[in-house]
Amino acid sequence: MTTLLITGGAGFIGSHVARKMVLGHPEIHVLNLDSLTYAGNLENLTDIENRSNYQFIKGDIVDEAFMEKFFATYPIDGVIHLAAESHVDRSIANPMAFINTNIVGTVNLLNACRNSWKEMKGKLFYHISTDEVYGSLGSEGLFTEETAYDPRSPYSASKASSDHLVRAYHHTYGIPVVLSNCSNNYGPNQFPEKLIPLAINNILHMKSIPIYGKGENVRDWLYVEDHAEAIEQIFQNGINGRTYNIGGLNEWQNIELIRLLCRIMDEKLERTSGTSEGLITFVKDRAGHDLRYAIDSSRIEDELGWKPSLTFEQGLTRTVEWYLENQEWMRRITSGAYQSYYNNQYGDR
Ligand code: NAD
Ligand code: TYD
Repeated sequence: MTTLLITGGAGFIGSHVARKMVLGHPEIHVLNLDSLTYAGNLENLTDIENRSNYQFIKGDIVDEAFMEKFFATYPIDGVIHLAAESHVDRSIANPMAFINTNIVGTVNLLNACRNSWKEMKGKLFYHISTDEVYGSLGSEGLFTEETAYDPRSPYSASKASSDHLVRAYHHTYGIPVVLSNCSNNYGPNQFPEKLIPLAINNILHMKSIPIYGKGENVRDWLYVEDHAEAIEQIFQNGINGRTYNIGGLNEWQNIELIRLLCRIMDEKLERTSGTSEGLITFVKDRAGHDLRYAIDSSRIEDELGWKPSLTFEQGLTRTVEWYLENQEWMRRITSGAYQSYYNNQYGDR
């Protein structure tokens, strides 16, 4: 049996990847290593927690001694590395946490692989990254795998740095690696600091929806299970040393996205049309706010046959339904420490 280490498996994307690998691959033993920061939540995994090919271990990838011991304890063949600090606004407020987890944590993992993998054949380190490493686009063009790196937030700079280190360990020490850089994800289990779940929660409670600047910034949105599917395919069939861009072919200006979401929410909540849109509030722009991200994902489509399976309307509707059915999940997350984060970021609206 292959032993696969998933880092950050209690987070948003990681929980979908862990579920897919545990349920779809009984021949693989999945270890989920997560330090359970504010963004980690074992409730995301209750349906797989008792599976015989699944094991959760609490641990911090920044702890070098722990990581070395961990690799000495478990016979790890593959790593899908998702553990990270992931929110741009938090990186603006507190960059050091991003340097520690995203850069130092990734190097600790790479060192542990390098030290414990005497034979590199059959091993793989898969680094999950973001399209934000490529910087910001104007109104034209798409990021390809050849686009020069130009990260502009502490978050994207830390992810760019970890991408470079993964490639450096591949070239220098021969560690087999693959990388993927994905656009904005949305879907069940996303922490409500991110735009879509934040807006869903605020609409539900008739609170204002904060839109940074004029709402003209563009993101390319991908349903999280489509991302998890791409990750599974790259893990199984990706070429050693190669990078794959993953995108939704689904660009939306923030304001248009929020208007669509408001329409879906009015319908689901049986509110008079236009009620939710009335909650839109333009607030101070994010510092250094990247204008537009958009991905050319033709490599993964051509080479691995992957493409998104849902339209945005389908994905958003599923997402809204999930949040409406899981209000307790949201209530637990938004009470406590999150409340002070929210008030600090947005004021007590
Ligand atoms: P998330 O913030 O929801 O989850 C991150 C997880 O990592 C949490 O469970 C947290 O507890 C864990 N973690 C954080 N620091 C850790 C540490 N030091 N040691 C061990 N575990 C730690 O993030 P997400 O949105 O699921 O993103 C997962 C990965 O995908 C990240 O690497 C992110 O950069 C990348 N990514 C995210 C998106 C997106 O739209 N969310 C898009 C492209 C790439
Ligand atoms: P976010 O979900 O934080 O993802 P990222 O910054 O990684 O793209 O933000 C998505 C877009 O929405 C981004 O342009 C910033 C904007 N935004 C708002 O307008 N208001 C908000 O409250 C948040 C969290 C984001």
